[in-house]
Amino acid sequence: MTDDVLVVRPAAKLRGSPALPGDKSISHRALLLALLAQGESRITAAGDGGDVRSTAGVVAALGATVERLAERDGRVDYRVLSPGGAALSEPGGPLDCGNSGTTTRLVAGLLAGRPLFAVLDGDASLRRRPMGRVVEPLRAMGAGFAGRHNATLLPLAITGQAHLAPIDYMTPVPSAQVKSAILLAGLAADGETRVTEAVATRDHTERMLRARGVPVTEITAADGRHTVSLRGPALPAAINETVPADPSGAAFWLVAASIHPDAELHLAGVSTNPTRRAIIDILRRMGADIEEHTRPAAGGADGEPLADLVVRSAALHGIEISPAETASAIDEIPILALAAAVASGTTWIRGAGELRHKESDRIAGIADGLTALGAHVRVEGDDIEIKGGRRLRGAVTETLDDHRLAMTFAVAGLIAEGETTVRQPGSAAISYPGFFQQLEGVRA
Ligand code: S3P
Repeated sequence: MTDDVLVVRPAAKLRGSPALPGDKSISHRALLLALLAQGESRITAAGDGGDVRSTAGVVAALGATVERLAERDGRVDYRVLSPGGAALSEPGGPLDCGNSGTTTRLVAGLLAGRPLFAVLDGDASLRRRPMGRVVEPLRAMGAGFAGRHNATLLPLAITGQAHLAPIDYMTPVPSAQVKSAILLAGLAADGETRVTEAVATRDHTERMLRARGVPVTEITAADGRHTVSLRGPALPAAINETVPADPSGAAFWLVAASIHPDAELHLAGVSTNPTRRAIIDILRRMGADIEEHTRPAAGGADGEPLADLVVRSAALHGIEISPAETASAIDEIPILALAAAVASGTTWIRGAGELRHKESDRIAGIADGLTALGAHVRVEGDDIEIKGGRRLRGAVTETLDDHRLAMTFAVAGLIAEGETTVRQPGSAAISYPGFFQQLEGVRA
């Protein structure tokens, strides 16, 4: 916690092409799969935020050589040289996952099936976040866990096993982290591991395992349930990878330009993966003017679909966002809530309960911050009602040390009357280093 504040004043115009970070989800997985793969993997243009750095630190602590080859625009090129999943080193101390839930949960799955003792720990926010959702299925596969509250909170001790039992698991909440943890553990299970979700979550682990030679099957049932399976034992092969731009980082610019009266922003090389593009489709449904120029060749070894986006000012209107859409745009809900506050009419964001378990209680953070700015926000159970059309005015906003709240309130400052103060803004560097410089850079 720091006393730092950022003061943002309204912008007359927004123009330009802000540099976007490398996709955080893909960057984490590229590093972890490089650890499991024997030999050299190169990862180009990875995100260089605090969360991905946490994963790089864990990968090094487990025995790989992680070299930073070059840095530019908040991105980094890595070379990872690993002895492979069968020869990981037992870490000499706790593995510091920092602020990163993805690091913690994916590493828990990866280590469940490796015969090592390890302790996962992180910052105060991460120590409050629920880990039972991965511990329960990983225990059922045979891994040992110990920690506070029946191993549901960090610090978490893991006793991995060389062989796990495969599992057929229905996740209680839609979570790509839980699904990915089970799939990574499934690599060490003898037989077929299956994970079923009520709504399909981001599929990077599946794409990336396939690209590295591990077959992964997917079936969608008529009711939308989605099952992913793989057969162990298996290990991914080492490959080179270029990371696309992060749609969750692009989301701040999509909303900034949409709600600003005189804006045009260009966003290059954004992943438009069907499991990540909900933010684009939801904003369009609200009336946003977003051009999408699909890049002919899909990017990277994993075949992520990519597009260059152009977003211009638009008159947004309120809509109803279903629980399935909320799940698909879970990281974008804070910035979408700002869009809803400016849009005409009422927006309902349904089924947002998972937001209480993110880097902060994001429902409270959104409601308090937007209310301070003069918006009308009401929380009813897991649903958020936002009555739009109010002129926002500058105020002091609390970020709860949460990167997505910090960036949301800074964007609000571009259009709110007077001065907007963003407290503890530094967390933005967790997913988007250089965000505030980019914010100044797009003022025309
Ligand atoms: C992520 C999954 C999501 C998301 C997070 C990244 C991932 O979390 O909120 O920022 O990379 O798998 P949950 O699995 O908790 O929904």
